[in-house]
Amino acid sequence: MTPTKSIGDQRHLFDLPRDVAYLNCAYMGPMMRQAAELCAEGARRKLQPWRLSSADFFDQPERVRSLFAQLVNGDADGVAIVPSASYGITIAARNLPAGPGREILVLADQFPSNVYPWRKLAAQTGARITTVTLSPDMLPTESVLNAVTENTAIIAVPNALWTNGALLDLAAIGRRAREVGAALVVDASQSIGAMPFDAAEIQPDILITATYKWILGPYNMALAWIAPKWRDGEPVEETWLGRAGSENFARLIDYTDVYQTGARRFDVGERSNFTLMPALIATLEQLLDWGVDAISATLSARNAALARRLGELGFTCPEEPWRAPHYLTARAPAGAPGDLLTRLTTRNVHVSQRGEHLRITPHLYNDAEDEARLLHALAEMI
Ligand SMILES: Cc1ncc(COP(=O)(O)O)c(C=O)c1O
Repeated sequence: MTPTKSIGDQRHLFDLPRDVAYLNCAYMGPMMRQAAELCAEGARRKLQPWRLSSADFFDQPERVRSLFAQLVNGDADGVAIVPSASYGITIAARNLPAGPGREILVLADQFPSNVYPWRKLAAQTGARITTVTLSPDMLPTESVLNAVTENTAIIAVPNALWTNGALLDLAAIGRRAREVGAALVVDASQSIGAMPFDAAEIQPDILITATYKWILGPYNMALAWIAPKWRDGEPVEETWLGRAGSENFARLIDYTDVYQTGARRFDVGERSNFTLMPALIATLEQLLDWGVDAISATLSARNAALARRLGELGFTCPEEPWRAPHYLTARAPAGAPGDLLTRLTTRNVHVSQRGEHLRITPHLYNDAEDEARLLHALAEMI
């Protein structure tokens, strides 16, 4: 097998001043300059609405569906365009069956977008939420598999946990879900774009991702892939664009109960976002051009090296395969000051703090100088 190629420095595509070390993609991925210019062009067209055409309403959303389908190895027909991960999980909670005595399985400390809709579903149906606590001594997948029972109705998990990057083997969890007749819902907002996702192998019932993190796309756009068996379900909104024949603006008053095909009925109202959609298209094209395998391999190698250097400073970092390759967290050594995050921010080194540890999530726009700034700053502080 040929090793996956490593991608060189891509900083020139972004707008990151040299004195800023932005190592915080898990919080907010920066957009590329080109994408921001497309947003500006979209806004200009809203100044001159006669320049808008049916391509903006229909062709661009279809292009997004096709690109996202390539990214996750699903079909374009199954892609829905929504504004947030919470919205996508709400589609899932509206449509997946649960009932008294059935369990909805989530991880402890999971992101709230993938918790609140399930709490509501549990309250409405009498189902119970089962929370899986991960252990540093066991692979996260094992903890999840151990918690699945014949009563499990829905497994609603991330791919990489947002607090510490704990990695789940979704193919194995998908197999187990099918064995017990449970649905698998994945919030992959912290992995898609930086880690391969194979919908054909994993067979999620519903997959959702925000685009503003590892996809490096705009805020307020998220993408869902919905398995064929749920595509005739109930959308969150009854949008006119989601109905058959909506392309013919002259005949929209020929009301119909027939939806557009595939997962299009689940699109958010006004999904044809002229400002953000072109930026998302350009970004998805760039990710596919780099290749997600290559992005993942590049970030994996760089993070492993960074983890070693952090270890030399006394930090403890979970290792692969416990953590996802693109997702580094570091627990400070005993006696380190409690305000490391603030001190780093003052020096223009940007990471996050989640719980007890720093979350350090570089991307292709980071280089050795950014890493050196982080390590140098931490070495001075501890
Ligand atoms: C795992 C995960 N899901 C979703 C989101 C964002 O959710 P939403 O799009 O509902 O705002 C985040 C943001 O940090 C996240 O970490």
